[in-house]
Amino acid sequence: MTGAASAGAVIEFRDVHKSFHGVEVLRGIDLSIVEGETFTILGGSGSGKSVCLKHMVGLMRPRRGSVRVLGEELTELNEQQLVPVRTAVSMIFQSAALFDSLNVYENVAYALREHTKWPEEQVGARVAECLEAVGLAGVEALMPEELSGGMRKRVGVARGIAMEPRVILYDEPTTGLDPANQSRVGELIRTLQTRLHVTSVVVTHELELCFDVSDRVGLLKDGRIVAEGSADAMRNSTHTDVRAFLDGARDHDQEGGYAT
Ligand SMILES: Nc1ncnc2c1ncn2[C@@H]1O[C@H](COP(=O)(O)OP(=O)(O)O)[C@@H](O)[C@H]1O
Ligand SMILES: [Mg+2]
Repeated sequence: MTGAASAGAVIEFRDVHKSFHGVEVLRGIDLSIVEGETFTILGGSGSGKSVCLKHMVGLMRPRRGSVRVLGEELTELNEQQLVPVRTAVSMIFQSAALFDSLNVYENVAYALREHTKWPEEQVGARVAECLEAVGLAGVEALMPEELSGGMRKRVGVARGIAMEPRVILYDEPTTGLDPANQSRVGELIRTLQTRLHVTSVVVTHELELCFDVSDRVGLLKDGRIVAEGSADAMRNSTHTDVRAFLDGARDHDQEGGYAT
């Protein structure tokens, strides 16, 4: 058996394949993300970044291969058994979809009320702590519609850290934000890293964020991680695919608009 977990690996993919309607999107992903690091999966639109992340919380299952997260082989777990994994691994979605009918407090408290029997006082204290961690102390009473795009993302992050996850997955956390808020999100990812000692996985096509936050970077292309290394090594890499992606992404920096 060659698939033994690497020492210290929090997330480990071995030969992960995933198809939709006969089209293979992941074609043998090998990935080893170690405790405490921030690993970024860089890749173009439609390359399978979100699909990779969904495998890390068992929202998708591979057609073939092994997905180990925090020592559990996710492919062997049923929905019930995945519940603790989803508490320990927090996925912060691209859209930061808040519940529009709930205020900020209720949004951040949601998982705590769902998964703990904490008294309201304790819930309130944790909500305040999480909002403080994302630089939004005191906005509990606001409704989502009253928040800017950048604030919504940060409330989404506050909600994502409420359960003290060991792993945080960020799906395109800066997409749709203006440059000032983009760098604020980068700063937030780094701050959470040092304060909470979490392992973080970021997926993005944005180079600035990637090199701002990452310890290591992997490039996803044609369904595989075609290159990986430290952020510095990747930035200076002469690998054809890496150069093509980095240079191409720079050229397209001003494209894409601020979709939500
Ligand atoms: N639930 C799904 N059903 C069918 N096709 C999907 C599904 N999720 C993703 N795909 C397809 O898989 C490919 C990769 O998607 P995705 O991981 O979302 O790309 P990105 O790198 O932009 O996040 C795309 O071609 C997408 O259409
Ligand atoms: Mg995506």
